[in-house]
Amino acid sequence: MSLSAEDIKFSVAPMMDWTDRHDRFFLRLISRRARLYTEMVTANAIRFGDRAKLLDFNAEEHPLALQIGGSEADALAEAAKIGEDWGYDEINLNVGCPSDRVQSGQFGACLMQTPDLVAECMAAMKDSVKIPVTVKCRIGVDEQDPNEALFTLVEKCKTAGVTHFIVHARKAWLDGLSPKENRDIPPLDYALVYQLKAAHPDLLISINGGIETMAEAQTHMADVDGVMLGRAAYKTPYLLADVDAAFYNETQAPLSREEIVHQLVPYAQNLVANGTRLHALTRHLMGLFQGQAGGRIWRRHLSENAPQRGDDPKVLTEALDLVREQQARKSALQETG
Ligand SMILES: Cc1cc2nc3c(=O)[nH]c(=O)nc-3n(C[C@H](O)[C@H](O)[C@H](O)COP(=O)(O)O)c2cc1C
Repeated sequence: MSLSAEDIKFSVAPMMDWTDRHDRFFLRLISRRARLYTEMVTANAIRFGDRAKLLDFNAEEHPLALQIGGSEADALAEAAKIGEDWGYDEINLNVGCPSDRVQSGQFGACLMQTPDLVAECMAAMKDSVKIPVTVKCRIGVDEQDPNEALFTLVEKCKTAGVTHFIVHARKAWLDGLSPKENRDIPPLDYALVYQLKAAHPDLLISINGGIETMAEAQTHMADVDGVMLGRAAYKTPYLLADVDAAFYNETQAPLSREEIVHQLVPYAQNLVANGTRLHALTRHLMGLFQGQAGGRIWRRHLSENAPQRGDDPKVLTEALDLVREQQARKSALQETG
């Protein structure tokens, strides 16, 4: 099965420790259409680990892609099949993550150096599942020439039957830069990703890296099929409220921030009833009122109370009440001023 251009217009990036199932449930309340990705899970963790813990998700999260890390075709094929059976809509291979731990396992960005191996892995995954298999990569690593490295990787994977690529439009320096630095320091080269699309109009190409606003995201759509936002979507999640209208021509109004909090309350109640600490959810909500009156008090109330009162979902509604008070005070001041 392949993806349509409609499917991949807007997505939220896989982010380890950030885009877990609670974050994704929250993001889904803001946009009904954005494509969501899991954190990377290694093929061997999927094969041998606690699958319910690693793979379970909420039904509301669809459309949802499982990102896998690994470089052994058989192991990846088996993990992909497990992911498909678990109900995911897409399997994505991580060819972009530069962390040491990932390098030692021979996967992530270092695979940019072994395009034949990536193509072999993709072919094996594709053979084992019916859902789409996709690649998230960099434009190159270390001393590679991106013109060569990106195009070679994509062309070999295309021959293996891959039709959708997400390109983080910068190199990764495997030696010398931390994973965090590798998300900021190597310069972005959006033009190269545009060239990739121009050279392969039959492929679906999504662009990723450094996109901060909806306006920027929409500008890229003139040259590629999709945009993927990572940190901006996590830190200012309400940005996603414009996605359904702007990218999918949806007419239904998005939920307000308050409505989102109200919908999170039963979710939080269920969470704590099942023994999960409230903080597992609230840690992802810090940016909901970013840039709004009450944004600071919201963050403070959650971060000071949720860890201590880990089984008390009322923390959420209390924080919302404080935001409302702050907003009422601000508008009263504006009226008198
Ligand atoms: C905390 C964090 C964790 C990340 N984990 C992953 C990961 O598991 N897999 C992956 O492919 N990329 C990972 N990334 C990279 C993002 O998916 C994305 O490519 C990168 O942040 C650039 O996009 P942005 O500028 O919109 O954030 C991570 C990024 C961050 C900030």
